[in-house]
Amino acid sequence: MINIAIDGPAGAGKSTIAKRVAAEKNYIYVDTGAMYRAMALYLYRNGIDADDSAAISDRCGEPDITIEYRNGEQVVLLNGENVNGFLRTPQVSDMASRSSVNPDVRAKLLELQQELARRENVVMDGRDIGTVVLPNAQVKIFLTASAEVRARRRYLENIEKGLPADLGEITAQIKERDERDMNRPVAPLKQADDAVLVDTSDLTIEEVVEKILAIIDEKI
Ligand code: DC
Repeated sequence: MINIAIDGPAGAGKSTIAKRVAAEKNYIYVDTGAMYRAMALYLYRNGIDADDSAAISDRCGEPDITIEYRNGEQVVLLNGENVNGFLRTPQVSDMASRSSVNPDVRAKLLELQQELARRENVVMDGRDIGTVVLPNAQVKIFLTASAEVRARRRYLENIEKGLPADLGEITAQIKERDERDMNRPVAPLKQADDAVLVDTSDLTIEEVVEKILAIIDEKI
């Protein structure tokens, strides 16, 4: 199976890019962040405190999280319910960032991700795909952009969706999440030694997709 790993911080454009690359190559796109978000939604709905790691460890084995593809779109099922529409709220984002530091949460989702990559050709995006989940991926990309550029993208996205948007607040949130994602003891956000660094700050989506397709063609 062909495995392509795309890692990087929030807002670097991973999901947009990974989706496009997967479509071009006819591989399956796996958004691992959505799995962490589904777990977070479960914890949030059950009133679990994001700082209570014992409770998170205790309860994270309970939910059944599966991924299905319907008309080419990834659908995340939490105990059978399509929860795609609930995964992007600020509450779930915050809970996902906090609960994803928990080793029991990571172990559970790791298994699910590796199982998918064994069965299918995948473009998988996340934080630890090239380093931990798919260390033998044929192609590894580390996608990044400056915090300011990433914040501006999220800000414009929110405005487009009619969501509240405060550039200063979004920048602060992005920096806080980077800090947490990079400094956690288990599977921190880190460029794999054999990953190719792609800085998207001054590139269009089209240019980034082209660049990655060229890297894939060179390696496979
Ligand atoms: O990519 P995202 O914003 O949807 O990810 C949500 C959270 O999940 C983010 O705070 C980091 C975490 N995450 C992770 O720890 N490991 C992954 N492979 C993917 C996401």
